[in-house]
Amino acid sequence: HPGAQQYLPHSTDLDDLAAAAAGCRGCDLYRYAGPTVFGAGPATARLLLVGEQPGDQEDRAGEPFVGPAGHLLDRALEKAGIARGDVYVTNAVKHFKFARDAGGKRRIHKKPARGEVIACRPWLFAELEAVRPDVLVCLGATAAQALLGPSFRITEHRGQVLHADPELTLPSDPQIVATVHPSAILRMRTGRDDALESLVRDLRRAASLLD
Ligand code: URA
Ligand code: SF4
Repeated sequence: HPGAQQYLPHSTDLDDLAAAAAGCRGCDLYRYAGPTVFGAGPATARLLLVGEQPGDQEDRAGEPFVGPAGHLLDRALEKAGIARGDVYVTNAVKHFKFARDAGGKRRIHKKPARGEVIACRPWLFAELEAVRPDVLVCLGATAAQALLGPSFRITEHRGQVLHADPELTLPSDPQIVATVHPSAILRMRTGRDDALESLVRDLRRAASLLD
């Protein structure tokens, strides 16, 4: 599979992009997953959030961040004073990658491989071109490494104002803030409240760059 590039339409209209992405076969993930989960939100958004990939519920709904991680994200956005309806929300990878549990019933999230992230990245770049956000938030390492390079570490640089790897020659050059993924907070056994506060702080920082 040569990646998503060949499936891109000439249009930069978000609806046209989403319609084309529905037929993407740029990597193997489409074979096992449900529909392509394209980004959602207004083309006029000044803030764009990038997650990792759709989860089980997003795969069923065809919409990003509508499951447990989405609910936590909604809470964090609200605490940060950001209206979800004002932001464009998407993922680095647009199909759900999973493994079956031993019983074969539950679908367990699997981290996408770097090759899958790169295969899918033309869709993210097209969304950047369509939305031209002023500020972009990477939720977790997968999104951050897609834009900031494979050696990027959230623990070292979270909350800082960054710019994408210049070698990517992005269609726009938003200020980037990387932070933890809401799913990582949900997986924590202790310290969730503090982790949520840190996520909220990073989101506030990102929103303050719009002023
Ligand atoms: N996790 C993500 O990264 N994206 C989603 O859409 C849902 C869960
Ligand atoms: Fe295409 Fe991305 Fe889905 Fe792979 S994950 S088939 S590149 S939309």
